[in-house]
Amino acid sequence: MRVGILTGGGDCPGLNAVIRAVAKSLIHQLGAEVLGVEQGFLGLIERRVRPLDLRAVAGIVAAGGTILGTHNRADPFVYFGAGGRDVSDAVLAYVRELGLDALVVIGGDGSMDIAHRISLKGVPVVGCPKTIDNDLAHTDRCFGFDTAVAIVTDALDRLQTTGQSHGRVMILETMGRYAGWIALEAGLASGADIILIPEIPYRLDEVLRICREREGRQRFTVIAVAEGAKPQGGTLTVHERIEASPDPIRLGGVGNVLREQLQPQLGCEVRTTILGHVQRGGSPTPFDRVLATRYGHAAAQLIAQRRFNRMVVLRGTALDSVPLADVAGRNRGVPADDPLLQAARDTGVSLGI
Ligand code: F6P
Repeated sequence: MRVGILTGGGDCPGLNAVIRAVAKSLIHQLGAEVLGVEQGFLGLIERRVRPLDLRAVAGIVAAGGTILGTHNRADPFVYFGAGGRDVSDAVLAYVRELGLDALVVIGGDGSMDIAHRISLKGVPVVGCPKTIDNDLAHTDRCFGFDTAVAIVTDALDRLQTTGQSHGRVMILETMGRYAGWIALEAGLASGADIILIPEIPYRLDEVLRICREREGRQRFTVIAVAEGAKPQGGTLTVHERIEASPDPIRLGGVGNVLREQLQPQLGCEVRTTILGHVQRGGSPTPFDRVLATRYGHAAAQLIAQRRFNRMVVLRGTALDSVPLADVAGRNRGVPADDPLLQAARDTGVSLGI
């Protein structure tokens, strides 16, 4: 059996742990030959693969990034390198030439969408849910999320001590795209005073009220704001548009917008920190290493059972799988009835409304 593996979209801590688990399981269990596709779907378009033997995947479980490289603009159905042309037939021909019995796609919603469309052309695919945003449909946890939450929590803890010393309002802007999971979980973990997420458009006057009230008592306020958060009746803060990208909008900057809105109305100073890609870099947490290993192992089991065109998922603490068609291009935000939101409210955290 010959199996290809690729990592698509933005990188994320734990990718190497998945690559390692898929390759080791397939080699040990099935004696399979494993090929690593370089830079996501771009490697299938530009015909760049390399062998992944046991030696190639040794010692990488704790390494950040992806040993295969990735690319977040390489969609074979609308290929930027060919003026937006569909080069998927050439990709299919290459997969056939390589003699791949299966292709493991480790990626987010965009990659799962491409994986699904490639599977419809006859490539047997297995998907693995990756993203720090934790916003893939049908899975409770994407690997990489736990690491991002740990990094953001540490940053919020640090902002609290300096904010307390100076009596300031400290705003931390997190990643997460249109989902508020990172800001919500890290905000709760660090005891942030205000958590603003995309799913609950905030009222500026309410944020101001809390800051003023705290100015009179504790003298400092910590705000965790997700990059996709917006005020009621307001718009998203877009950092830039990358037209060649399948997902052209890059969010970012709401933390600065919020500071500009709050500062003139407050006696104390307001400071904003935007963590950016620090949230995506470096070594995965032990939780993410284990989850990534479980996902990689489960992906190999699907291949062994020849159950294709599915993505492995986590439900509670158990692994399962769902058809790629069910996850392709879909997102999962924080639902209005999520118990974490109630826990936040009941422990005195403001959600800005
Ligand atoms: O989807 C992961 C993510 O890190 C988002 O949280 C963020 O909005 C986006 O990717 C940033 O993309 P890029 O790396 O292209 O700037």
